[in-house]
Amino acid sequence: MIANLPLFPETASTMARRVDALFFFLLGVSGFFALLIAVLVVVFAIRFRRGRSPEPAKIPGSWLLEAVWTLVPFGLAMVMFVWSARIYVDMFEPPEDALEVFVVGKQWMWKVQHLEGRREINELHVPVGRPVKLTMTSEDVIHSFYVPAFRLKNDVLPGRYTTLWFEATRTGTYHLFCAEYCGTEHSRMVGRVVVLEPDEFERWLEGEGATETVVARGEQLFRELGCASCHAEVSGARGPSLRGLFGSRVELADGRVVVADEAYVRESILDPQAKIVRGYEPVMPTFSGLVDEEGLLALVAYVRSLATAPGSSSAEGAPKLAE
Ligand code: CUA
Repeated sequence: MIANLPLFPETASTMARRVDALFFFLLGVSGFFALLIAVLVVVFAIRFRRGRSPEPAKIPGSWLLEAVWTLVPFGLAMVMFVWSARIYVDMFEPPEDALEVFVVGKQWMWKVQHLEGRREINELHVPVGRPVKLTMTSEDVIHSFYVPAFRLKNDVLPGRYTTLWFEATRTGTYHLFCAEYCGTEHSRMVGRVVVLEPDEFERWLEGEGATETVVARGEQLFRELGCASCHAEVSGARGPSLRGLFGSRVELADGRVVVADEAYVRESILDPQAKIVRGYEPVMPTFSGLVDEEGLLALVAYVRSLATAPGSSSAEGAPKLAE
């Protein structure tokens, strides 16, 4: 198979073969028409040259011919559209049970945080045969997380969360690149993805460097930053209760209703005035500059954990989203 030529990166994810198949289809269609047109240009130039046919024939229109050369490209374009749209949608819809990993890009390294606590730099350890979802952000400029062997790439943006997911199909070590020019050392912003057997991965997670879980770290930050003094679990508290908040719909003072997702929690920490919950005063100060991106991810993970924590009573006016 052509995909096994050394010209091509390895195929090591469930998506890789699908992306390659689409790529070869596009290449095949483009190649076929490029060749067809080139050959016809030469053949017609010779066959209908002036010396040979000084009196060109008058050619009447043909609706059949026109219909064919309209419908065939239309059909081909629709095949390309539907095929690639399906791959795109699947690529950006992580499965529910995906293992979650946080990635923070900064000039010029990749910082990786596993929910169980282990952190790494310029390396990403994952288990084989299990979907992995990356939630990514940047501390400075735009980077792009790119693993050719997984046919996987997405921009990593400051001030925003982007996601990617993949399921590795083979153990091994694969290249990780930054695919967006991000400054002097951009070309050295490389790393590796290490795909391990599931039991090896479990051992690795518990290995040296393992610290508290991300949720525990978020809880500690929550206390250190004094969040609990307003977001208390009592009626009449200055801030809304966070229990059962994540994933729910939140009614805002201006009448809007938003879903409390990662981006909402992040924004509410950094820019509390952006979305004031109905029934509360805009008294929360910003925590911008007081907590870094990794801390924010930990806080988001902690708030999310409160949604499913025991004793969870859905906050008032916050029905759970049907999923
Ligand atoms: Cu980061 Cu290029």
